[in-house]
Amino acid sequence: MKLVAGNWKMHDRGRALATAICGRLGARRVDVLLCPPFPYLREVGEALAGSGIALGGQDLHWEAQGAFTGAVSARMLLDTGCTHVIVGHSERRLLFGDTDASVAAKVQSALVAGLTPVLCVGETLQERDAGFAQRRIRSQVEAAFRPGCIVAYEPVWAIGTGRAASPDHARDAAQTIRVAAGPDTRVLYGGSVNATNCAPFFSVTDGALVGTASLDAEAFAAIVRAAEASS
Ligand code: 13P
Repeated sequence: MKLVAGNWKMHDRGRALATAICGRLGARRVDVLLCPPFPYLREVGEALAGSGIALGGQDLHWEAQGAFTGAVSARMLLDTGCTHVIVGHSERRLLFGDTDASVAAKVQSALVAGLTPVLCVGETLQERDAGFAQRRIRSQVEAAFRPGCIVAYEPVWAIGTGRAASPDHARDAAQTIRVAAGPDTRVLYGGSVNATNCAPFFSVTDGALVGTASLDAEAFAAIVRAAEASS
């Protein structure tokens, strides 16, 4: 089954966007996941009740509790209705100091608590231009993947740039990920996915992790319909 996930990042969207998305999606043959900012998880969860759309956090701390100002634990995400959590997004790695080691600890903590991690991997522009893309992807997967993870391939140079990877590049990355993580691993593509360019990615991966376009209910619903069309 394809999965279309929306990462709302630090945009102040909550109940209204969730309600608008629900209103545009009827019975589906694909899985849908929304990941709003922490403070809106509960209201988005209420808006999604009965819709079959899953709720996820955008990050977590690996410890169960303690003096970790600003952090949330897997248990807290579960308590707000989450079933999934994004882990190791490149924005966390590049702006907040997440490392392969801390990402691995977060994945482990999420799995132990019963959350499904969406483990993000992807090379920078420099790594791609130096011919290291597949090696970087493999090393990130080997460092943090555990059975039960979904893996999102998000090349850093494609995120928020309007310059999506080619479907061939995404297919190669998905193959690298499945060699490293196991052939049945669910692999998503993320990076400037929109309603116009999404269809080819659904032929070569198991779905999409959508940023900017997930903030527009109509665009997000169109991406979900494209995933259904290729299922
Ligand atoms: P954009 O779709 O805005 O490029 O963001 C992708 C992303 O980072 C999803 O996690």
